[in-house]
Amino acid sequence: MSAVSFEESLNDLRLSFRNSPEPSYKVSNYFYAYVELFGHLRGKECTFVETGVLNGGSLFMWRQWLGPQARIIGIDMNPGAAKWRDHGFDIIIGDQGDPQFWQEAFGEIGPFDAFLDDGGHQSFQQIVTAQEAIRHAQKKCVVVIEDTCTSFMREFERHRNRSFLEFSKAATDVLVANTSHFFEGQFPAIDNPQSLEEFKQVCSIQFYSGIVAFKIDPAVAEKPELLWNKEPQQNAEDFRYHGTTSATVVWPNPFIVEKVTVRGGRE
Ligand SMILES: C[S@@+](CC[C@H](N)C(=O)[O-])C[C@H]1O[C@@H](n2cnc3c(N)ncnc32)[C@H](O)[C@@H]1O
Repeated sequence: MSAVSFEESLNDLRLSFRNSPEPSYKVSNYFYAYVELFGHLRGKECTFVETGVLNGGSLFMWRQWLGPQARIIGIDMNPGAAKWRDHGFDIIIGDQGDPQFWQEAFGEIGPFDAFLDDGGHQSFQQIVTAQEAIRHAQKKCVVVIEDTCTSFMREFERHRNRSFLEFSKAATDVLVANTSHFFEGQFPAIDNPQSLEEFKQVCSIQFYSGIVAFKIDPAVAEKPELLWNKEPQQNAEDFRYHGTTSATVVWPNPFIVEKVTVRGGRE
């Protein structure tokens, strides 16, 4: 496929959605994220996995937009989804909340380029799905969980404060903690090295409205190093403690107005 602009790709995707021969429903601002996250796969041989088939509409949308070379795999717990095999889609039937299921499913899927979860949307399902997809990633790829709105919704509140969004925000700490060896004695002790291991191939975690994307690249699995391009002859003075020593801000919490003072400076 010749290079198309972001806007063209976005228009094509909206058209593929509207023209899908089967019903599908998506939140309108997801299309922007899809183009950012999956646009590079258009016209290429790739493996695209979506958990959540329902009426099959999104399977046709992905095929129309990505192109005929794409292997589109749909996953659903409803055995009725198997009928879409007759239309050239790979369909795997199973329960995304069960890690054992993923063991077998990823054996069948093999290396994948993109994984999108639009399944049951309960936090534990989203967490197990993200963890298993990240564990089974074998090459540069992206693992995307959508409908993170359920982290706040009453219908899904049995997760209490262990929502998928809280899991994802905590995972961003792991990305930073893998640099703790640069700063001896500065970080809390890493008592859970397993968490660093789990996310070591994740190079970024991107938050969109209703979507979290984990970008994976095995090349980043190396422990990061602190690099000078060249040693300075004489280090300039760093003025970080010469300025104001605090800021009062409204914390970005949509549910509570919270004005807080964030202190800085040094003793
Ligand atoms: C939101 S719909 C999918 C919509 C579809 N992707 C679209 O855009 O048209 C959710 C689907 O997830 C499936 N699902 C729910 N819980 C599941 C689970 N535990 N494992 C696998 N699939 C599940 C449901 O059967 C349903 O078909």
